[in-house]
Amino acid sequence: MKIVMIVGSIRKESYNQQVADFMTKRFKDKMTIEQLDIKSLPFFNQDEEEDPPETVKIFKNKIKEADGVLVVTPEYNHSVPGMLKNAIDWVSRGDRVMTGKPVMIVGATPGFLGTVRCQIHLRQIMAAPGVGGRVLPGNEVLIGGVNKKLDGEGGMTDTATVDFLDTVTDNFVKFVEA
Ligand SMILES: Cc1cc2nc3c(=O)[nH]c(=O)nc-3n(C[C@H](O)[C@H](O)[C@H](O)COP(=O)(O)O)c2cc1C
Repeated sequence: MKIVMIVGSIRKESYNQQVADFMTKRFKDKMTIEQLDIKSLPFFNQDEEEDPPETVKIFKNKIKEADGVLVVTPEYNHSVPGMLKNAIDWVSRGDRVMTGKPVMIVGATPGFLGTVRCQIHLRQIMAAPGVGGRVLPGNEVLIGGVNKKLDGEGGMTDTATVDFLDTVTDNFVKFVEA
């Protein structure tokens, strides 16, 4: 099973990147996860949507060829980080490569609410006609207090979160296979 992963933060010490790396390693026997780079994508420009820059073409093609998409993202100002929205806007135009793709959403924040407001918006965005990602229903991975749940060496110290990630990832595998 080929899964592409999109991380909504581009900062070096990103907690979400650490969660993404943890998941990539932990679930390697369940799926092949390739992390995509949103940092190198230019700002979306509608003038270029039919013949976008090479980085965008490569990005879109990776999604097209994947069996599913895993998004791991922080919440910015109660919504989706601009870099992530920019990537989704590129994907939503021309050949709509996200349409029908199974999507799993994970979010992590040092705050209490675990990116819930971002994820509500992200689910709305996924339902837009040009996007059409099929988000795994009934499973919300909201990781609050993430700064206390990672060991800084690639591990996750909070066993309840690890167990929950295991369960939801198994649900996602079944969802992709169905
Ligand atoms: C522009 C900006 C807006 C933020 N807004 C929120 C927010 O609405 N909710 C939240 O829980 N955290 C918010 N934060 C704090 C982030 O959760 C925190 O910086 C987190 O570490 C970012 O994720 P990362 O570690 O993966 O980069 C915000 C941070 C930034 C830089």
